[in-house]
Amino acid sequence: MSDILIRKSNLIDIPLIEQLYKKVASVEGGLARTESEITREYVEHFVSKSIVNGIQFVATDKASNTIVGDIHCFGIGIKAFAHVIGDLTVAVHPDFQGQGIGKMLFEEVLEEVREMRPHILRVELIARESNTRALRFYESLGFEQEGRLKKRIKSVVGGFEDDIAMAWHRP
Ligand SMILES: CC(C)(COP(=O)(O)OP(=O)(O)OC[C@H]1O[C@@H](n2cnc3c(N)ncnc32)[C@H](O)[C@@H]1OP(=O)(O)O)[C@@H](O)C(=O)NCCC(=O)NCCS
Repeated sequence: MSDILIRKSNLIDIPLIEQLYKKVASVEGGLARTESEITREYVEHFVSKSIVNGIQFVATDKASNTIVGDIHCFGIGIKAFAHVIGDLTVAVHPDFQGQGIGKMLFEEVLEEVREMRPHILRVELIARESNTRALRFYESLGFEQEGRLKKRIKSVVGGFEDDIAMAWHRP
């Protein structure tokens, strides 16, 4: 794990973040987007939103100098929701999953919220019901299941499945 560095992202990371998301999206059942739906425009959109009104960290593999993990979330941009940060997405390269990188990325975000963004009271995310490992992982970080959005997302085995709305609340 000493070969992994967690740091804030910036605009020059966009091409490597795009490569990462394409790779993660090539494995079904995690991200909502398919590989072909990971476009430069999509990545530019979330990197810029995270810089202006959000939080983003990337995990870099020092040996290959590539980005192997990303977490980002951003605000809604309306005063009534200024205490909320959401649209959270996390992705770790398939070859690097299960090594604690996802956990480190989340811990950075939650520490930033706790220490630097006292106005944020709620961190929101949505995960598909079949992604049980991810759901358990989020619960272990303090996220609660708050709701079930029935048949919201297309299932990889056919038909549709529920999306689970989760939130972390400032203690
Ligand atoms: C979910 C994900 C971000 C976790 O990152 P990670 O670096 O693999 O996770 P960590 O090694 O820090 O392990 C933390 C927990 O994540 C979960 N996890 C590990 N690998 C996972 C995988 N391939 N898919 C889903 N969850 C996984 C486990 O619950 C693990 O806890 P455990 O060690 O008690 O089993 C990562 O697996 C991933 O990018 N998956 C594909 C994309 C995705 O599902 N994104 C989330 C959409 S809501």
